[in-house]
Amino acid sequence: MSETTAIVGVGNIGSAVARHLVAGGESVVLAAKDEAGPEALAQELGPLAHAASVEDAVTGADVVVFAVWLDTIKELIAKDALLLEDKVVIDPSNPLGFDESGNMIRTLPEGQSAGSVVAALLPPSAHYVKAFGTLAAEGLANSANREPQRAVLFYATDDDAAATTIVRLIRAAGFEPLKAGGVAESGRIEMPGGDLHQFGLNGALLDLDEARAAISAKGAPA
Ligand SMILES: NC(=O)c1ccc[n+]([C@@H]2O[C@H](COP(=O)([O-])OP(=O)(O)OC[C@H]3O[C@@H](n4cnc5c(N)ncnc54)[C@H](OP(=O)(O)O)[C@@H]3O)[C@@H](O)[C@H]2O)c1
Repeated sequence: MSETTAIVGVGNIGSAVARHLVAGGESVVLAAKDEAGPEALAQELGPLAHAASVEDAVTGADVVVFAVWLDTIKELIAKDALLLEDKVVIDPSNPLGFDESGNMIRTLPEGQSAGSVVAALLPPSAHYVKAFGTLAAEGLANSANREPQRAVLFYATDDDAAATTIVRLIRAAGFEPLKAGGVAESGRIEMPGGDLHQFGLNGALLDLDEARAAISAKGAPA
């Protein structure tokens, strides 16, 4: 019997992750600010998917994917930190937000990763992993179960339990998992600036051999 994964946010990334996980036989509980989006997606995905409030989704799940913008992740952790104790927390965020004119801007100083910020906000018993944000949303949505070689999704973590879970979920989603390094390396799989993010790879999706070569091209993982 598989664990349940809560997906908080069902926009570009959250809906693609939900679709792929359900296609791979994983059960998901979907939540967002408004429950209409999660309810519609759960209905479309069938019996392995359910909709709930954010609090109920997180409480009832073993694994939580925060498929929301970085500032929202910070708010949600501040509000629900206790609910995240002992959970695996998957973070696809980039250090991006919008200015008053609606232009996308970097929200953290150069050199500081969203992964390092989110990991530091979690309760010590949470199991943090940066993943599911290493491709642009379109690449993630359209590249599951690629043939003849599956496309790699990189992840970054310092935590063995989180690594075991994300390897299972990336495989279930139809991709090949590969560790880029520890949390200190998570900037390598974020954008802007990450050399292992799809944008840092000029849009390429890598197979396992190509991805291993790309990791070592700029230094070995921690
Ligand atoms: N888009 C990409 O190509 C891409 C690629 C890699 C990584 N990422 C990262 O993935 C994350 C999600 O990006 P996205 O493009 O999927 O965003 P998005 O399409 O704008 O979706 C955001 C989701 O967050 C939900 N949300 C907003 N405020 C919330 C709250 N307070 N509580 C619960 N849910 C809330 C929204 O729900 P409502 O609709 O109900 O407001 C919506 O479902 C971001 O951190 C982004 O940096 C994005």
